[in-house]
Amino acid sequence: MNLTTRPRRLRYGETLRKMVRETRMDPSSLIYPLFVREGSGITEEIPTMPGQYRYSVDTMGEKLASLQNAGVSSVMFFGIPDHKDEVGSGAYDANGIVQRALRQARKDFPNMYLITDVCMCEYTSHGHCGVLCGHEVDNDKTLKLLAQTALSHAEAGADMVAPSDMMDGRVAAIRTILDSHGYINTPIMSYAVKYASVFYGPFRDAAGSAPAFGDRKSYQMDYHNSREGIKEALLDIQEGADIIMVKPAMSYLDMVAKIKNEVHVPVASYSVSGEYSMIKAGASLGYIDEEKIICETAASAFRAGCDIYLTYFAEEIAGYMKEGKIG
Ligand code: PBG
Repeated sequence: MNLTTRPRRLRYGETLRKMVRETRMDPSSLIYPLFVREGSGITEEIPTMPGQYRYSVDTMGEKLASLQNAGVSSVMFFGIPDHKDEVGSGAYDANGIVQRALRQARKDFPNMYLITDVCMCEYTSHGHCGVLCGHEVDNDKTLKLLAQTALSHAEAGADMVAPSDMMDGRVAAIRTILDSHGYINTPIMSYAVKYASVFYGPFRDAAGSAPAFGDRKSYQMDYHNSREGIKEALLDIQEGADIIMVKPAMSYLDMVAKIKNEVHVPVASYSVSGEYSMIKAGASLGYIDEEKIICETAASAFRAGCDIYLTYFAEEIAGYMKEGKIG
């Protein structure tokens, strides 16, 4: 055969394959989501997320230390309070669970980068991401509480805040309150392109945050839509978002690629609980090779264009990167 171009030429041997590799990754792009709960001495496995735990403030240090050893230096805190009420007051309580976890982590792990999820759903008795007016979440009333939450996180030592509630105008509300209290350099990573997704199921189990009635479709996006995601991203950037997140990751990598083309800020993608649990389930049944699928799904997110990857497999991925299995 007289073939001028033979794409296979560049696929012979690991050295050459690595030389021409288009996607390169390292652990500094990884963020690990960490669940902290009330109580002490608790390391409690999450039934729907085998291998993931809820930690109390006094035990979370073990996980932070092993993350740091693996080269993962960024975490995102999710709080699981004992007390929930109509207005989610635990979210913006200076002594709330996330605020206490932040102060402890700040003290014990001064080099770790501490990010917080800013949302009401873990703290409200009804499980919705804001305050209710009848059966609907009241957008504008919720903004004030989200802003207070973000401020209390910054005051407790958060390096970055990440609003995930999908209320309109929340990035502006948070930017305004942070700036007026001197936190001008605290970045906002906006969950701007967040879909109403069944992939969050195991998380809602983990955090006890399933809505008591209805669903989140009046604030999270319809998964049939794509241009709407670009609209959300552009709006949030106008309001002051420093980083734009697409969530979930798998099944939404088309959005990562599109957003990457449209914006000039870093793009994050969040491989959510359902993605984690599907891999764990498939692997535990022997249907799929766990290590290889973790590598492949992580690489696909970076190939699609994400700069930052939030994943429950952060520690494992950092290990695979060190071993040269991906990266
Ligand atoms: C809070 C929030 C959720 C997740 C991150 N922040 C749950 C939801 O929107 O219902 C999901 C994370 C995951 O599934 O891993 N609003």
